Amino acid sequence: MSDMNSIEEIARQVHSCTDCPLSNSRTNAVPGEGPTDAEILLIGEGPGYHEDRQGRPFVGPAGKFLEQLLPSIRLGREDVFIANMVKCRPSNNRDPLPAEIAACSKYLDRQIELVNPKLVVTLGRFSMARFFPKESISRARGKARKAGNLTVYPIMHPAAALHRQELRKAIEDDFKAIPEVLKLAASQAVEETGDIQSSDHSDSTTQQPQQLSMF
Ligand code: URA
Ligand code: SF4
Repeated sequence: MSDMNSIEEIARQVHSCTDCPLSNSRTNAVPGEGPTDAEILLIGEGPGYHEDRQGRPFVGPAGKFLEQLLPSIRLGREDVFIANMVKCRPSNNRDPLPAEIAACSKYLDRQIELVNPKLVVTLGRFSMARFFPKESISRARGKARKAGNLTVYPIMHPAAALHRQELRKAIEDDFKAIPEVLKLAASQAVEETGDIQSSDHSDSTTQQPQQLSMF
């Protein structure tokens, strides 16, 4: 593989990639998009029907919801870098397989390196697992942590709220805390405390005593 020295070069390589079987069924690969100097990099799971058609991330129903969430932190989709774990659609929206995620990770790795965001926001369990493989989303959501040099803030996937109304508020609350998390990430407070609590979750699943000492 030739060097991936720019976001555009990564996109070119993704468009011609045949490194996993998802290349056989895709209409368009979806490399991801956004400013190379974005402070926030969002990572979803993989393209769905609409993304595969248009070659762009989060342009279907989950994307519509994301576009409602971003203004709550005074941002638009053009202000953030939006990527996915796999760049080609798993058919029937099945979960991406570990081998597909592994084959595709080189592209996301390089996107993260080039953008060098202040904050990585993982949407859903697949992108959370890239950084915190043993975590459960219900426990980890809404708390930023260091993963190497990165500050990673796991939240639920916006598509989850489409199917479960009761989760909508949790995503909205976690999303609204992003500016605060970003500020703390910039001030290195995450390193010092190991963990940032975004908001006072009052449900018992987030009140685990060991959460502050995990990393
Ligand atoms: N869901 C995702 O995880 N990614 C997309 O790009 C669209 C929907
Ligand atoms: Fe290549 Fe990733 Fe698409 Fe698989 S999902 S063909 S590894 S770009």
